[in-house]
Amino acid sequence: MGNVVNYKVDGRVAVLAIENPPVNALSHAVREGVVTQMERGVADDGVDAIVLIGVGRTFPAGADIREFDQPAREPHLVAVIDRLDDIKKPIIAAIHGTALGGGLELALGCNFRVAVPDARMGMPEVNLGIFPGAAGTQRLPRVAGLDHALELIVLGKPVSAAKALEYGILDEIIEGDLQAGAVAFAESVVSAGVPYPISSKPRDGIGPPGEHAETIDKYRDLANSRFRGQESPHQAIESVVDGLRMPYAAAVAADRLRFESCKASRQSAALRYAFFAERETAKIHDIGKEVTSRPIDSAGVIGAGTMGRGIAISMADVGLPVTVVETGQDALDAGMAELTRLYEAMVSRGRIDEATKDERLSRITGAVSYDALSDADLVIEAAFEDLDVKKEIFGALEVVAKAGAVLATNTSYMDIDAIAATTSRPEDIIGLHYFAPANVMRMLEVVRPAKASPDAITTGMKFAKRTGKVGVLAGVCHGFVANRSRLPLVREATFLVEEGASPVQVDKVLTDLGMPMGPLAVSDLSGLDVSWRMRQSLASERDPEARYMHLADRMCELGRFGIKAGQGWYDYEVGGRHPRPDAEVEAIAAAVAREQGIVRRDISEDEIRARCLYAAINEGAKILDEGIAARASDIDVMWLYGFGFPRWRGGIMFMADEIGLGKILEQVRAFEEVHGKLWAPSSLLERLVAEGGGFTR
Ligand code: CAA
Repeated sequence: MGNVVNYKVDGRVAVLAIENPPVNALSHAVREGVVTQMERGVADDGVDAIVLIGVGRTFPAGADIREFDQPAREPHLVAVIDRLDDIKKPIIAAIHGTALGGGLELALGCNFRVAVPDARMGMPEVNLGIFPGAAGTQRLPRVAGLDHALELIVLGKPVSAAKALEYGILDEIIEGDLQAGAVAFAESVVSAGVPYPISSKPRDGIGPPGEHAETIDKYRDLANSRFRGQESPHQAIESVVDGLRMPYAAAVAADRLRFESCKASRQSAALRYAFFAERETAKIHDIGKEVTSRPIDSAGVIGAGTMGRGIAISMADVGLPVTVVETGQDALDAGMAELTRLYEAMVSRGRIDEATKDERLSRITGAVSYDALSDADLVIEAAFEDLDVKKEIFGALEVVAKAGAVLATNTSYMDIDAIAATTSRPEDIIGLHYFAPANVMRMLEVVRPAKASPDAITTGMKFAKRTGKVGVLAGVCHGFVANRSRLPLVREATFLVEEGASPVQVDKVLTDLGMPMGPLAVSDLSGLDVSWRMRQSLASERDPEARYMHLADRMCELGRFGIKAGQGWYDYEVGGRHPRPDAEVEAIAAAVAREQGIVRRDISEDEIRARCLYAAINEGAKILDEGIAARASDIDVMWLYGFGFPRWRGGIMFMADEIGLGKILEQVRAFEEVHGKLWAPSSLLERLVAEGGGFTR
């Protein structure tokens, strides 16, 4: 314990330094250490004030999330914080790094808070399915005012030190050495001899809830729009509102019960799982820490189409110079003009200012020859999805690209091993599969062909992080991990329409699960022709015994490509994007069903849910079994970031464990009986059911 919270005295100021790497989480040992060393400071006659600081990279970044699955142990954080109120010596929190959650609550229990300019402060608990349960919902409104407090507590986004100063959370920003500055601040407080603020005490201007109805409603609306289906932001608001109508101690007691029930909720379990799942993705079992990534100081993109432009923007946005290559001047001019338009739209939406736009655009250079890529450290090919086209591009690239450059393809389903095999430098070739729009979506599938060198893979993963993406590793197979696991869901969605369900009915079941859009509305948005072309290119590999997506083909044959055609699974007004039910689709589906000998029927929501979800889960299990994904949680992270699957459900594989693998297998077998071999159960699923195991636990 002694070395978890260190005690030393500087002049007449005790400095308590929390040392619990990596993020100084407030574990049981740290809480005990803070109490013990605080009492030491109180008892020490040579000490007039106490500074609380973090060793290493940060002030405590919150409670220790790993302890949440265990019974809570005393001293509880709230008791540690409340004890600070009774200490007669001023306590100063000295903040660097990220003071988050319980860390910020601990700081709020101190009388004063100072921080370095690049520190960040926040209450991200809602993202873990809980709320600031160590009196943060009571103390922050008293310190920062209701609106600012709700902003931090409900939206869960940290703020900068400058903002925290403006909100009254900080008393001073310290330039230079933090500890020395905090000690000097403590000395000045002592010599001023004025009473010290205590954040649990009532504050002028915060009256009963009725006086703040507008502000409270604003955050209820924001909670609904930004966290659809998630309970924690609402619990956080209720906790703050309790504090407006109850004295501090009563509100804290009410918080205790509310917090425990949030912590025990399925949503919180899923959100905590998602937190760690995201961090696991960085760990590649056969590539050690000694493998360093290659430096990336400049990049190239081949293709100035939708994907190429998005990729170029994602790089320019983080300061990387990028050369975009097109086959001809006209295509290049059109692509560059569209790039400029995209940046201008960001300015008009207030996302960036004019100067930032100019700076970012200046990092993007256009060219019509591969020679312009000779200096690039990384080249990403984002051309047409045609294997021969790609092979040709990589053939040209291997000659032009400098030694050591990583050569990546953005293909979403093609055989990258086959592409690599045509070049003399397969060790440099990887897949970087972006999700549209590439500058917005945070998912980046890093695909590992058999011959890629470990440092090329590490470079891809590091590059993902640098460009603000969540990089997840995938092996080579048709559609890799993300699209391959989602395809069966889309397939079943179209089969269900063929069998008698309406697109509205199918999509609603999926949006009721928490997905932002139903699969058929998504197909309309991205264009039905994309997968149609893919099916055509795979016609020679088609299994004549497996059911085929005849209805989806027919829609394309009729030109119903989705929004861009004004018609798809839905109907659209000219230039509109709002899907409207279309009786024509029903007629087409009925005709295709007749041709296929399918008798149409009423289909229940339960069947739609099971068909769509279990098809994806069964495929996920196959992907895992083949080693294409390293972990079930990697598949889940792809669904969260690639497809907007609700985070509070954890992901499809986490959900599968919750539903019960036995139940899923039974249903998969029943579907196989009726719908044939596409439903063949995964042998991993069968093994896990026999052994009593789970995908994620
Ligand atoms: N508890 C336990 N472990 C934690 C942790 C926490 N609060 N925060 C981070 N870690 C772990 C991570 O799992 C990771 O472990 P591995 O190296 O084994 O994967 C390691 O610390 C480093 O974390 P990151 O990879 O995320 O490092 P980063 O530099 O990218 O980000 C961070 C640092 C901003 C602090 C980020 O980790 C983060 O956001 N942490 C969570 C913060 C949070 O949610 N705090 C609130 C906790 S709940 C609470 O405090 C409840 C309450 O009211 C009492």
